[in-house]
Amino acid sequence: MPADRHCGVMSGTSLDGVDAVVADFAPASGVCRTLGFAHVAFPPALRHDLAALQTSGDDELARAARASLALADCYADAALAACRAAGLAPSEVASVGVHGQTVRHRPDEHWTIQLNDPARVAERTGMTVVADFRRRDLAAGGQGAPLVPAFHHALFARPERARAVVNLGGIANVTLLAPGAPVRGFDTGPGNVLLDTWHARHGGGPFDAGGAWAASGRVDHALLHAMLGEPYFAAPPPKSTGRDLFDAGWLDAMLAHRGAPEHPADVQATLAALTARTIADAIRGAAPGTDEVLVCGGGAHNATVLRMLAHDLAPARVVPTSDEGVAVDQVEALAFAWLAREALAGRTASLPEVTGASGARVLGAIYPA
Ligand SMILES: Nc1ncnc2c1ncn2[C@@H]1O[C@H](COP(=O)(O)OP(=O)(O)O)[C@@H](O)[C@H]1O
Ligand SMILES: [Mg+2]
Repeated sequence: MPADRHCGVMSGTSLDGVDAVVADFAPASGVCRTLGFAHVAFPPALRHDLAALQTSGDDELARAARASLALADCYADAALAACRAAGLAPSEVASVGVHGQTVRHRPDEHWTIQLNDPARVAERTGMTVVADFRRRDLAAGGQGAPLVPAFHHALFARPERARAVVNLGGIANVTLLAPGAPVRGFDTGPGNVLLDTWHARHGGGPFDAGGAWAASGRVDHALLHAMLGEPYFAAPPPKSTGRDLFDAGWLDAMLAHRGAPEHPADVQATLAALTARTIADAIRGAAPGTDEVLVCGGGAHNATVLRMLAHDLAPARVVPTSDEGVAVDQVEALAFAWLAREALAGRTASLPEVTGASGARVLGAIYPA
């Protein structure tokens, strides 16, 4: 019986790069144990190309194909680096689940696009690749997202606790884990995407390290109120979103409508408040009994967002998943390792109550080593 080890490779809407993890899914205790982790930053040119592919433009098909090749190389590098970090040969890892890079997400029209070249990842790594996790759920009438709640449930559900898991990626999503109730989950709206956009424009650098710049500004409550009027926030689940909606154009329209605050740092503070408030409203609205909120994703390093979230959700306890023994930057990659494992075993992994699909489906296409 080969060891139950799988690799997961995730690159999200933040366009920061690739997180890869190798985990053992038959540990002595618990659901899984991380054996190795690697982060591969996107080369600036690829990051630029991926940002450009978020909107329509000339020669999109060829540009998407070229970006897919470059992505596949990053994914393969990340998977191999995670294997090395684990001290394992790729042949000792049963599969690698590769999410791909979302460049469009239109569940209203039943389609989503994750750029990837799984065949190339299989060639470059010698590993069995599982990819294209979302489209089967869309074909079954679902949003194709979020897919991680089933894993959040496996990892973090406790019979005695009403918990929520918040993933602060480019887009933020919540999973609601109330004892005795079905798992629920949906995208709440912007996580880091608008914070990163504004910081890159005014603060310099791809993100606001620690949320320090946001902490130096003051929340503009009129602007925050206007932003909270976005209809997505009030729409009932199932729902999922992406850069298709929350991008620089959305932010600029808000600022044009309300008038931008004098100090750019005040916009950053207001965007941090928007991320926190929309998450808090979503949790309080859908699961008012929640007493513990576990935060993961790169945004968990943003102390300002976390402080605002704790304030908005008090008296619930808001803590990083690292307090539960899972590093904040590893949760999503672990989820795709787990999803690959479920696909190989032929088990369904989607939650129709989360995505709105007509039933649970086996997710992902398999590219044998
Ligand atoms: N030290 C940090 N301080 C503040 N924000 C951070 C820090 N490190 C990462 N982030 C944020 O996390 C984002 C990446 O998070 P990630 O979970 O990888 O999101 P995604 O899945 O969308 O790629 C960055 O774009 C940035 O906004
Ligand atoms: Mg990322």
